[in-house]
Amino acid sequence: MTTTTETYGVDPTPSPLALLLLGREADPNSERGVECPGDLPAASDPDLVARARAAKEKLGDRVFILGHHYQRDEVIEFADVTGDSFKLARDAAARPEAEYIVFCGVHFMAESADILTSERQQVVLPDLAAGCSMADMATAEQVAECWDVLTDAGVADVTVPVSYMNSSADIKAFTGKHGGTICTSSNAKRALEWAFEQGQKVLFLPDQHLGRNTAVLEMGFALEDCVLYNPHKPNGGLTAEQLRDAKMILWRGHCSVHGRFNLDSVNEVRERIPGVNVLVHPECRHEVVTAADQVGSTEYIIKALDAAEPGSKWAIGTELNLVRRLAKAHPDKEVVFLDRTVCFCSTMNRIDLPHLVWALESLAEGRVPNVITVDAETEKYAKAALDRMLALP
Ligand code: 13P
Ligand code: SF4
Repeated sequence: MTTTTETYGVDPTPSPLALLLLGREADPNSERGVECPGDLPAASDPDLVARARAAKEKLGDRVFILGHHYQRDEVIEFADVTGDSFKLARDAAARPEAEYIVFCGVHFMAESADILTSERQQVVLPDLAAGCSMADMATAEQVAECWDVLTDAGVADVTVPVSYMNSSADIKAFTGKHGGTICTSSNAKRALEWAFEQGQKVLFLPDQHLGRNTAVLEMGFALEDCVLYNPHKPNGGLTAEQLRDAKMILWRGHCSVHGRFNLDSVNEVRERIPGVNVLVHPECRHEVVTAADQVGSTEYIIKALDAAEPGSKWAIGTELNLVRRLAKAHPDKEVVFLDRTVCFCSTMNRIDLPHLVWALESLAEGRVPNVITVDAETEKYAKAALDRMLALP
């Protein structure tokens, strides 16, 4: 019998998604973007660390490397600064002398860095397949359609859009155009307070969990004040009356990493480690955040661990690279991952040492790879929304 690949249901042609994840294809419908040209050094190359060091040294002050807290250790080692998305947005804007900003994070973060940096500076994303599934859950067309639905229901005039940093530049531009602001997980409450001073309702994009958790747990709204707009249903699956009664119109998006923690994870860890403090990111589901002891952005989580008593026990509900680093940095405390199965953010993990070496060596040789550029019109409105966030008290 001849065995063909079909026998095993294996298609010999890689799918567009597989190619995208390999950084070798374009998806015009995704904020993840386009091809990753050039040959990468082999991951097994024993000289990768030395090569990264040499290229970085050669570039000197011309390059500034930003590393998000969810990046791999091998990449964080070369970051000039590390931070959450809010801190990195500010840090990018504070380095006007660097010609190249190498962003070790995901696509929407690099876009924001391009918007906030000068014309003269170029932002490089070492692997263009490093996108964010949450950001992809709100497209410009879907959001424009949603605004039409709000207009037909007679509520658009009193609604202020607040968009999470984890969104494409198009969504940020929509937000700026309609008088709204961007927020991150470390300033969502302040952003919502500001928005409710400007209007009567908020359209919160694209993370339903951050929106709900902030409104209910920090601002005193009831769960019934929040409705969920599903872009895949006619009129978002909501009636005009529901839209008129709501305070928070939450977009039906979520993080594929944080959204996987559940109540069982919390109960199981409490049983396994008596006295444990459960600390989770606000992108987790409402029931997880409610059952936790503390909730906060990645920067908050890091500070909480720094301030914790020696001997204290912590179960952390956020991305695994960060939790592992925290466990290593605090050998005097017991630090565990909240769930046994939830793992790395696969797109954050796209940026590895071979991609970083490739990007730095290309720059050192005078080629600028994987430049992230936001067009002028989008930039103008997206910057208005980002500037509103940066000016929040
Ligand atoms: P922060 O960096 O705002 O904590 O967000 C976490 C995240 O999911 C980034 O992609
Ligand atoms: Fe997106 Fe979640 Fe990954 Fe952050 S952790 S980049 S929100 S998928």
